[in-house]
Amino acid sequence: MALMKVMTILVLFVSVSSTLAQSNYGGHISILVSETGLEFAKDYLIKKVITTTLPLQLPDIENKVKIPLIGKVRMGLSNIQIEAVHVQSSKIETGKDGIVLSVSGATANLSMDWSYTYRASFFEISDHGDASVEVKGMDLKITATLVNDNGSLKIVSRENDCTVENIDIHINGGASWLYQGVVDAFQKMIISTVEKTVSIKIVEKMKKLDSFLQSLPKQRKIDDSAAVNLTFTGNPVLGNSSVEVDINGLFLPKGDDVKVSGSRSSSFFGGVKRMVTISVEEEVFNSATLVYFNAKVMHLVIGETKNGSILSTSDWKLILPELYKHYPGNKMVLYMSVTSPPAVKITENGINATIQLEIAIDVQDSGEVLSVARLSTVLSVACSTEIIKNNLTGSLRLNDFNATMKMSKIGEFQSNYVQAATSRILEALFLPYVNTRLKRGFPLPIPGDFTINNIKIVYVRSGILVCTDIGTGTNH
Ligand SMILES: *[C@@H]1O[C@H](CO)[C@@H](O)[C@H](O)[C@H]1NC(C)=O
Ligand SMILES: *[C@@H]1O[C@H](CO)[C@@H](O)[C@H](O)[C@H]1NC(C)=O
Ligand SMILES: *[C@@H]1O[C@H](CO)[C@@H](O)[C@H](O)[C@H]1NC(C)=O
Ligand SMILES: *[C@@H]1O[C@H](CO)[C@@H](O)[C@H](O)[C@H]1NC(C)=O
Ligand SMILES: *[C@@H]1O[C@H](CO)[C@@H](O)[C@H](O)[C@H]1NC(C)=O
Ligand SMILES: *[C@@H]1O[C@H](CO)[C@@H](O)[C@H](O)[C@H]1NC(C)=O
Ligand SMILES: *[C@@H]1O[C@H](CO)[C@@H](O)[C@H](O)[C@H]1NC(C)=O
Ligand SMILES: *[C@@H]1O[C@H](CO)[C@@H](O)[C@H](O)[C@H]1NC(C)=O
Repeated sequence: MALMKVMTILVLFVSVSSTLAQSNYGGHISILVSETGLEFAKDYLIKKVITTTLPLQLPDIENKVKIPLIGKVRMGLSNIQIEAVHVQSSKIETGKDGIVLSVSGATANLSMDWSYTYRASFFEISDHGDASVEVKGMDLKITATLVNDNGSLKIVSRENDCTVENIDIHINGGASWLYQGVVDAFQKMIISTVEKTVSIKIVEKMKKLDSFLQSLPKQRKIDDSAAVNLTFTGNPVLGNSSVEVDINGLFLPKGDDVKVSGSRSSSFFGGVKRMVTISVEEEVFNSATLVYFNAKVMHLVIGETKNGSILSTSDWKLILPELYKHYPGNKMVLYMSVTSPPAVKITENGINATIQLEIAIDVQDSGEVLSVARLSTVLSVACSTEIIKNNLTGSLRLNDFNATMKMSKIGEFQSNYVQAATSRILEALFLPYVNTRLKRGFPLPIPGDFTINNIKIVYVRSGILVCTDIGTGTNH
């Protein structure tokens, strides 16, 4: 069971990392968001803020206005709503000052109701109707930086500014003097109300984003045996037009504080151009094999073939003639157990793992289980990874193995029989079983409606890079 889990981890593990973020010391997973990734994030954020904010209600405005020939008129604007915002130009920059997101020359449409009352001789005259307002030249600038706060990411807001250049008011109905009256009395007030309300809203959204980041779990459960340490390490590094965050990334025994140590190596990034590059150090895989090994789940009992037929000594007549001779036609059970944490090695050529496996051959004889022989083997496997839809999958291939007989109750086996039997067990039972599980894959937990696409997995010395573009379900 364990074996496959271990290899799957790499897959899982990558998926886990894609939900996180951040920085330098003690990090074994780095996430680099490139310029195109920042562009995507910017467009996504702007769209998200607009769709979750509109329609935006502004406070009512009232004013007393002196109108020539008419006198003092009490005017009010109510139900003022920003209904649409169009952003034509925006940019995101990173650097010493932090992350700067700016929008320039945006336009917005407002709707509102107007009303007025005034006294003429003995009558009170009043009227009401609606109006639309076009907001032009709206500029926004938000400066913030990301810091590590006790292992979580925190947004520190530096500046948040909204300015509106001018507005056009279109009044439906009303008397002819009304237009100029509204413009004179309300233009500045509408502009400053829009500026103030938008700024307040942005602050609210930043707080939401901040509490989302702070709510990211510091550990993520993988299964009953393991969790991954998702603690951010160090501060995010803001490059010229990139953001890099590091996370600890090592596997932990679930619900247990036993430390799994891994030596730190410096982070690395390759040359593939994608929105996001996640680098995963070899230590992560080795922490996974260690945790699963310590959890005592790295064993597998096989009593039937993959197609469901019972294992019997008759099927192994040619490979293990001694076994058949002693127990003709008996049911066989193979018990496989990993005897030390598999060592994972990653080079530019791919992922190799060395597995020490002990194989016990048991037979059932008149209801009794008899231990007949025990083989000890060291195998070297290559692991290839693939992404199918949003699932990360893996597959193991046998490079080579050495096997020795450890115990036998049916006499010494010839060495070529030991090799042949081990080969058959590994190729026909063990690896297919492991690979069936790996092939199913694991869904990458992509937040919200994000999808990943254009993925490339690059192997480098001591790690892998998962380079991917990000999209949304409807719109790549
Ligand atoms: C905003 O107002 C302009 C001018 O009246 C109009 O052309 C545009 O369609 C409006 N947009 C929306 C989304 O209402
Ligand atoms: C820091 O995080 C740890 C673990 O999440 C928590 O136990 C501790 O209380 C936090 N310390 C502060 C000062 O917030
Ligand atoms: C930062 O980016 C600007 C514009 O893209 C470029 O001119 C400059 O050389 C870059 N600086 C560094 C240190 O990469
Ligand atoms: C998780 O990672 C952080 C940062 O490297 C480290 O300080 C912390 O001790 C780790 N937690 C466990 C339980 O190992
Ligand atoms: C099941 O697989 C075994 C070998 O793994 C083969 O000998 C046997 O014919 C297969 N049975 C069926 C029903 O496919
Ligand atoms: C994996 O092992 C095989 C056979 O031992 C070797 O040819 C290959 O270069 C190794 N690959 C890596 C990535 O170490
Ligand atoms: C098997 O033994 C040979 C000779 O000792 C060695 O070169 C090879 O690396 C071993 N293979 C494995 C998988 O341990
Ligand atoms: C992805 O993985 C999940 C969980 O293992 C599985 O249920 C699903 O069928 C997989 N999807 C694909 C397309 O393989």
